[in-house]
Parts: sequence; C-alpha cells; structure tokens
Amino acid sequence: MKIPDITIAVDGFSSTGKSTLARLIAQRFDFLYLDSGAMYRGVTLFAQEQGLISPDNVIDPALEAALEGLDLHFAQGTVLYMGERNIEKQIRSMEVSAQVSPIAAVPYVRRYVDRRLHEFSAAGRVVMDGRDIGTTVFPNAEIKVFMTARPEVRAQRRFDELAGKGENPVFEEVLKNLEERDYIDSHRETSPLRRAEDAFVLDNSEMGLTDEVAWAEGLIRGKFLLLDAPDAPAND
Ligand code: DC
Repeated sequence: MKIPDITIAVDGFSSTGKSTLARLIAQRFDFLYLDSGAMYRGVTLFAQEQGLISPDNVIDPALEAALEGLDLHFAQGTVLYMGERNIEKQIRSMEVSAQVSPIAAVPYVRRYVDRRLHEFSAAGRVVMDGRDIGTTVFPNAEIKVFMTARPEVRAQRRFDELAGKGENPVFEEVLKNLEERDYIDSHRETSPLRRAEDAFVLDNSEMGLTDEVAWAEGLIRGKFLLLDAPDAPAND
C-alpha cells in the first residue's frame, strides 16, 4: 500500500536542513517537492534588479503592481526560473539572503507567493518547505514537521554551503544574518514563523541525515499505519 495523496509541510528556522529533508521525503514517496523560500528569494532578486528595494531595505510600493508581470516558476523539478532565466544560483547569494526577510514580511508579497504555491500544488501529493506552510499556506496538511537546531550549528552549515559555492563567507556575518532573519521571520505581523500546534518538532543539532529521514519516514508511515507496507525500505 502506498502513502495516500497527502500534503506534507516542513517548516522551521533557516539552515535547519528543511529542503534537504523535504527533498528526500519527496524522492522516497514520489511526491512533488516545492521550496517556498526560493519564491521569496526570487521576488527579492526581482526587486533588487528593478531598483525597487534600497540598500537599507526601503521597499518601493511600485513592487506590488510590478509583481503582476513577474513569472516565477520551477522547471527541471526544483530549479527556479524568472521567465526564461535560470536564477537558482543568484537567489542563494548573500546579497539576496540579506534582503529576503524584509521582502517576505510584506503582505502583498506573501499573497503573490501563496497564490503561486497553490497553483503549483494543485495536483496534490506535495511536500513543501518554508516558514508558514503548516500554519497559513496549508493549515490542513496531514503531516507537519517543525525543524530547529542551535544557531551556531545552523550558521556553520550555511557557512559551509556558501564556501562550497566559491563565496568567501565570514562566520560572524553568516551568524548575524541568520539571527536577524530568525528575528524578522518570527516577529513579522503577517504569517510569522511559528510551530503549528499539530506539528512534530525535529531538533537536528546533534542528528545525522540518515536518522532524520528515518524519523520522518516513521512519522509518515505511522500516521497511516503502513509499517508493513510492501514499499517499506528493505533493511535501510
Ligand atoms: O528557506 P529560505 O532560507 O530559502 O527562505 C528565505 C526567506 O524567505 C526566509 O528568510 C524567510 C522567507 N520565507 C517565508 O517568510 N515564508 C516561507 N514559507 C518561506 C520562506
């Protein structure tokens, strides 16, 4: 028996490995994976390129109308495109990371992203990661996971990721950016980052990926009592 066509929400703090876990769950159970943070990053890049956000984060109200013409979509699975352009690399830069939280706090930006996410997931069988998926975007998701880890552990992961991409990160700056984002994301008025009451918490400060996947798989199979299902992993 296979997992039914449900929605799985994976929320939590930055650099807790939400996308890695969500991707693996999607692969394991043949779900569509959607990265909602990439959409906020795409809008941020757009605002920067259009000159609609200043270096000190003042957002031009013209962004609202400009979003009507913005075509952000995923292709080749999880690669974000702006129109014809693959923007996957740019949206992961420090410049975009530094301004994404103020952009994501704007109500009309959130409405734009929510609408697109609902369009992308219309066919169902989706695992989506973000900050407000279990609370706002899909409050009825059948499975909700809330991920957390100590800030220093998360900053180290982000540092390694940036260094691996050839950027020259400074650890203190990465940690500062992460803590600022945590603060803005959890204190904004519209859809703040918080654990849905029915979300299961996963603190992976001291946990490896294999154990995380096993934990999530146990949660999902347990929910549907599929522990002896034929597609259960064979000794892995
Ligand atoms: O997961 P990420 O670091 O790529 O997300 C980038 C930013 O987008 C993050 O600082 C908060 C925002 N975000 C959000 O507000 N709501 C979501 N569902 C996903 C991301």
